[in-house]
Amino acid sequence: MGKRSRQRQKNQNAGRDNRDTAGWGAGYADIIKENKLFENYYKELGLVPEGEFEQFMEAMREPLPATIRITGYKSHAKEILHCLKEKYFKDIQELEIDGQKIEAPQPLSWYPDEQAWHTNMSRKIIRKSPLLEKFHQFLVSETESGNISRQEAVSMIPPLLLKIEPHHKILDMCAAPGSKTAQLIEMLHADMDVPFPEGFVIANDVDNKRCYLLVHQAKRLNSPCIMVVNHDASCIPTLEINSNGKKDVLFYDRILCDVPCSGDGTMRKNIDVWKKWTTSNSLHLHGKGMELQLRIAVRGVEQLAVGGRMVYSTCSLNPIEDEAVIAALLEKSEGALELADCSADLPGLKWMPGVTSWKLMTKEGQWYTDWSEVPSSRHTQIRPTMFPQKDSEKLASFHLERCMRILPHHQNTGGFFVAVLVKKAPMPWNKRYPKLRKDSKLSSSAAQTSSSKEAPSPGDTPHLPPEGSTEKVERNMMMTPSSPPYSKSFYDLSPDFPKLNVLTRTHEGKKRNLYMVSKELRNVLLNNSERMKVINTGVKVWSRNSEGEEFGCAFRLAQEGIYTLQPYIRSRIIRVSVEDIKVLLTQENPYLSKLEDEAHAQAQKIGMGSIVLKYIPNPNNPGEPQCPIQLCGWRGKTSIRAFVPRNERFHYLRMLGVEVFRDKQGLGQKRSDGEKDGKEEAEDAAEKDEEQEEERACEGDCNEKGLTDSTS
Ligand SMILES: C[S@@+](CC[C@H](N)C(=O)[O-])C[C@H]1O[C@@H](n2cnc3c(N)ncnc32)[C@H](O)[C@@H]1O
Repeated sequence: MGKRSRQRQKNQNAGRDNRDTAGWGAGYADIIKENKLFENYYKELGLVPEGEFEQFMEAMREPLPATIRITGYKSHAKEILHCLKEKYFKDIQELEIDGQKIEAPQPLSWYPDEQAWHTNMSRKIIRKSPLLEKFHQFLVSETESGNISRQEAVSMIPPLLLKIEPHHKILDMCAAPGSKTAQLIEMLHADMDVPFPEGFVIANDVDNKRCYLLVHQAKRLNSPCIMVVNHDASCIPTLEINSNGKKDVLFYDRILCDVPCSGDGTMRKNIDVWKKWTTSNSLHLHGKGMELQLRIAVRGVEQLAVGGRMVYSTCSLNPIEDEAVIAALLEKSEGALELADCSADLPGLKWMPGVTSWKLMTKEGQWYTDWSEVPSSRHTQIRPTMFPQKDSEKLASFHLERCMRILPHHQNTGGFFVAVLVKKAPMPWNKRYPKLRKDSKLSSSAAQTSSSKEAPSPGDTPHLPPEGSTEKVERNMMMTPSSPPYSKSFYDLSPDFPKLNVLTRTHEGKKRNLYMVSKELRNVLLNNSERMKVINTGVKVWSRNSEGEEFGCAFRLAQEGIYTLQPYIRSRIIRVSVEDIKVLLTQENPYLSKLEDEAHAQAQKIGMGSIVLKYIPNPNNPGEPQCPIQLCGWRGKTSIRAFVPRNERFHYLRMLGVEVFRDKQGLGQKRSDGEKDGKEEAEDAAEKDEEQEEERACEGDCNEKGLTDSTS
């Protein structure tokens, strides 16, 4: 055994020792991290700078540090960050275990507002310190309640490069499991005071089961601006919208095209790739069903508004899945597309410019540098679009160097590829597309109204099936507008309440829940029910409550829609303090008198039924949470109760300094239930389960023995 091999073996053994302990909650199977074909291929391609190949390979063999992203909307995310910094990070920085300083979590330098962190603590270390155990539990519980998400650092890049604004219409073409979708939704809601941003996200995935992961992910954000659909992205239907009484084609301002790929950039996490990697995975994906990655990307740019941006990304380092797809797209576009220069967009991020030359290797190790060398027996597997452009002038005009390849050893991440395309003109095969209006307040779809007569001609790929066409979707989550079955005066809804945006799931009998979608998403939904397979949309704002009928309130407020609805509610609001929230969230059915004087007085003036409990932060009291908190509740005869699901309840308590963690067994149980629920949630039949679950969650799940108030 040579010196290098011995060293490698040593590293691998060391890696194996770490396996059960590395990362946060990670467990690794016994796999030899070696693949000669992989090594030869990437050495030969020269993607890694001179002299760094060993470092590259060593990094690939190391377990990936855990990265977390604080999810949710602005002031809430800030509050969680504050909590992390004040309660944990400060103390961890000082911590020594067995005489060794602990590597404290570090923010990702290029992620805005310190909302993303990486931590390299092993399980073994965590177990040795009560402080780290607590920190770990905090992370796990907040992840469970959806306020922190574990997401690979590199996977956070594409949404940032899309430069989302709240009015953007966004299509996420291959969206499941949805970590990037969540980022997109959060960006739409940059201003928390706007309950219905003008923009929306349509998140799509071809895999029906994985669509329910998307539903689960999106549900945590309680947004009325998200719709989950289930189509093959390479032929996702063109949608229609009604613009001032005229039918128009919907073009997107932003598209995320995070395509299926061989995933060799994820070897540090998905160590199975070590065993399975051959170049045929890449050839297959680029070439599958005639160039799947390319076909998806082409479908994307067809649906992009002129002036819009599309991000193409893969977690593969292979130019066949990366630059080759981009080059083929640019070639087809005949100048309609341009690669954007993003070099200044994420200061601090290290990346390698895209390459202009590469060659192909088969799984038998046979190399081809040009299409002309490929025998016809290989023509179904190897496609001409896989080779670099031969015309050097044309090649230079593509500016492939603007693509970004992230190498694992440069900043201890996974490998990744990302390219940002800007649409300068209609695609050559649909020349007459209208332009985006300059007025940033107006969305592309609205801007295109004026030219609606110039809709794509027959034969253009984005066609609209005729009204009543047979291109119907097989199964759909149908939503229909609902006239308010609740008494408007009960909640004293303001005159600007968008009552048209209230929808109900279509089924026989009494409506159980009422949902809200934004005006623009309603437009999409109601004009495309025949062509779209909608898995889920809308945020639940009211739930039927038969007990309430006698008080003029057949529908009680639902916690998940409270931030959407509350700005329009003008009565039945009780302003509460931090202490009041603690009482409401830790006691099952406290007497009104348990509230502090101010809230008690307000509660006494309100009749029985659904209420809003509202906490408004006081900037002069920085010791208290600085984000607004709104809870749904019920004013009973002599008592009051918060109707807040368990996860959220625990989250708010933690923000108020109450240490509350579910036992490990409970967490595991909940997680697997949650996955199953994801599927059920979106189906009409599951509405009832949902309600019951919520009722259960609201009923005494917070018995006091599980809670300790660290502030007291
Ligand atoms: C790389 S993953 C996407 C990851 C996702 N964007 C995220 O950040 O969580 C690729 C996804 O593409 C989906 N997919 C594969 N073929 C597809 C197709 N033809 N149309 C739409 N989605 C497809 C897969 O089901 C998979 O969920």
